[in-house]
Amino acid sequence: MKKVGIVAAGSYVPARKLTNADLEKMVDTTDEWITTRTGIKERRIAGHDEHASDLAFKAAQDCLAQTAYRPELLIAATSTAEKCVPNQASLVAQKLNLTNLAAFDLNAACSGLVYALAVGWSLMQTGGYDHTLIAAGEKLSRFVNYKDRTTCVLFGDAGAALLLSAEEPEHEILAVELGADPSGADLVVMGGLNDEFYFRQDGRNVFKFAVEKMGNLIDRLKDRLGLTDNDRYFVIPHQANSRILEAVARNKGIPEERMISNIAKYGNTSAASIGLALKEAWAEKRFKKGDYLFLIGFGGGLSWAAAAVRW
Ligand code: UT7
Repeated sequence: MKKVGIVAAGSYVPARKLTNADLEKMVDTTDEWITTRTGIKERRIAGHDEHASDLAFKAAQDCLAQTAYRPELLIAATSTAEKCVPNQASLVAQKLNLTNLAAFDLNAACSGLVYALAVGWSLMQTGGYDHTLIAAGEKLSRFVNYKDRTTCVLFGDAGAALLLSAEEPEHEILAVELGADPSGADLVVMGGLNDEFYFRQDGRNVFKFAVEKMGNLIDRLKDRLGLTDNDRYFVIPHQANSRILEAVARNKGIPEERMISNIAKYGNTSAASIGLALKEAWAEKRFKKGDYLFLIGFGGGLSWAAAAVRW
C-alpha cells in the first residue's frame, strides 16, 4: 500500500460574526441557553455574494500556500454548493488556476470531509494520484431559518482544506472507516423543496446517535491500530455540540485537552468543521510526533466517517 500523509491544512472563515447577543435580538433565546446547551458563543456568516465555493477556494488557497505540491485530484466536500452544475470542485479548481486534474463533489453532510479524505486516500492507492486536495466549503446560513430558534443558533459558514501527498507520508493516514444508517435519513433534512428547504433535525435522536457512534468509532480505531494505554490519541470531531464531545470524552476517559473543540467560535460548519479544528490545533502545535489523531465526522444521512492519522 502507498503511504499517504496530510501535508497541509488550510481554513477560511468570513469576517462577519453573529454572536449570541445578536441572536437574542432575533429570536426568543438567551446566551445562557445557547452556551449551556451547545457550547456556541458566536459563528461567522458569509456575505450575500460570498458563496460556498468561495469559502472552499480561500481555504484551499491557504492550504496550498503552505506546500509546493499541486493536486492531480480535487474532491470538494459540501452539502451547500451554490449550484448543482458546475460543481464546487470545478469552481475551486478554476479559481486556483489548476489544470490536468480530476475534480468532483462529495456530499456526505457533516461527515463530508472525512468521507472525501477516505475516497481520496483510496483513489491514491488505485488511481495513480500522488496529491489530492480535499476542499470543504459550507454556507449553512443560506439554508437556516433565522426565525427558528431551535436551529438558527447552531450553524456558521466556513471553508477548510487538506492536502494529501504520497511523496511526503509524514502525518500518515493509517485507517479509515465509513458508514451510513439510511433508516435515519429523515432525521436531518435540508435543501429540499418548499417546506423541506430550511434545515431541520430531530436533535435529541441525532444527539444520541452521535454520542454512541463516536464512541464506537474510537473503540474500532484503537482496536484496528492496536493502541495501548501508553499511546496518546487526540479526537478531532465534527463540531455539532460541545455536550456531545463532553459525553464521549467522559464515556471513553479522554482528557479534555485531547478532545479538540473550537465550536464556541464557529458553531457547526458541517463538512468544514473538522478541517477548521485540525488546522487550528496544528497551528497551536498541540500534537507531538507519534501521537495519533482520530478525525471523526457524523451527521445527516445518517452518515459517519473516521480516519486515524499518525502524527
Ligand atoms: O451536524 C448535524 C448533526 N446534528 C447534531 O449533532 C445535533 C445533535 N443535537 C443537539 O445538538 C441538540 O439536540 C440541540 C442543540 C439541537 C437541542 O438541544 P436539546 O437539549 O436537545 O434541546 P431540545 O430540542 O430538547 O429543547 C429543549 C427546550 C425546548 O423547550 P420545551 O419544549 O422543553 O419547552 C425547546 O423549545 O429548549 C427549547 N429551545 C430553546 N430555548 C431557548 C430550543 N432551542 C432554543 C433556543 N433558545 N435557541
